[in-house]
Amino acid sequence: MANTVIVGMQWGDEGKGKIVDLICPAFDAVARYQGGHNAGHTVRFGDRHFSLRLIPSGILHEGMSCVLGNGMVVAPDAFLGELEELRGAGVDETGRLSVSNRATVLLPLHVALDRARERARGAAAIGTTSRGIGPAYESKVARYGLRMVDLAAPDLEDRIAASLDVVGPQLQAHAAAGRVEEVEAGEASETDPAALADACRAWAERLAPYLADTEHLLNGWIRDGKSLLFEGAQGTLLDVDHGTFPYVTSSSSTAGGAATGTGVPPTAIDGVIGILKAYTTRVGAGPFTTELEDDTGEYLRQRGNEFGTVTGRPRRCGWLDLVAARYAQTLNGVDGIALTKLDVLDELREIKICTGYRLRGEVLHDLPAERAALEDAEPVYDTVPGWQKTTAGALELSDLPPAARDYVARIEDELGAPVLFVSTGPRREETILRHDLPELGRLTSGRLLR
Ligand code: IMP
Repeated sequence: MANTVIVGMQWGDEGKGKIVDLICPAFDAVARYQGGHNAGHTVRFGDRHFSLRLIPSGILHEGMSCVLGNGMVVAPDAFLGELEELRGAGVDETGRLSVSNRATVLLPLHVALDRARERARGAAAIGTTSRGIGPAYESKVARYGLRMVDLAAPDLEDRIAASLDVVGPQLQAHAAAGRVEEVEAGEASETDPAALADACRAWAERLAPYLADTEHLLNGWIRDGKSLLFEGAQGTLLDVDHGTFPYVTSSSSTAGGAATGTGVPPTAIDGVIGILKAYTTRVGAGPFTTELEDDTGEYLRQRGNEFGTVTGRPRRCGWLDLVAARYAQTLNGVDGIALTKLDVLDELREIKICTGYRLRGEVLHDLPAERAALEDAEPVYDTVPGWQKTTAGALELSDLPPAARDYVARIEDELGAPVLFVSTGPRREETILRHDLPELGRLTSGRLLR
């Protein structure tokens, strides 16, 4: 049985949702290990579309267990809202959905602070999703925040006071500078301890059936020989340690986060599947060496429908960046790649691949840590011919036009990992599965059907 991590190899939005949905049936449970409702994908269930942000899309697969790990930040109202949406669509999650009681609670005051800080940053704004992610993680690492288990704890008031001691004065300063939105009467007021305590108690009651010591649950399943899929949100270059700091999210979105974010030991993880989009996108601010601010960039955005699921923002688009992808391979040790959205490149006459960064007269092959270096680097490109044929409907690699096969082979060579999946359209069927490669069977316990 295989326990496999799914990780984004770029700046998020690589198309993880489709691949997770595709390989889910080969696993017994899915666990999210970081992030919060900043992530999101639209999922189709019957003839309905809805967006899941916190709950793994595995919940739509009958019998599949889903876990929100301790490494996540969970906004109770967002979680309960998703549950209602699921129930409305006829999904019965009874007994299949667990939330770590050690996960961090994301409160309305974190949202207010995230927004106020972004306003204060002005032109230097990170371009966050405005969901309160950074302030919630901060409350964890600074050790004043609430965990899910605290919502019903006897010292709830003390925990709330500890949060307000830190966040209250910051919000007041931002409010004095006109950077805090009006709080509507009746909302869980950001800084009113009594209202906050009432809201927490109400959430605690509704969340109680879902809260669990998920590390015991997950490790028990592993001992029972079940296969687990660890789902990372965002992408490698948004990782708080390894990404393009400070233009990152506040969690460990690399594969290593799967262990700390679920309480499953690294030795129990058997492999990693890296999701790589055939070109690059990024939402929010920050360096993006291969960005295209021209017609080709606009073509990628329209053809690839590159608009954010959570915020609707147009995504910045550019060529495939192998400097960033090689770095992602180094950090994640990807055993196999899922190459997504290859079809978006179908009509291009030529395609560029970034192989290095030119900086101050030198060519770099590794991603520099220094912010100014990342901002000043110019891409060094290899130009390859496009295939100008449709790739839709390809079921085997041999069905692809030769230039598209060369593109896939080039990625395998450069990253030193096989491409196990090639996605050529949004639908499940529009995927080449490399059943000829042993890694596919190993990472999916041989349970992924043709
Ligand atoms: P935060 O996670 O809301 O704090 O945002 C920090 C940065 O991560 C911003 O550039 C966001 O656009 C980016 N980000 C957060 N979540 C996602 C995601 O799911 N996909 C792509 N970018 C994301």
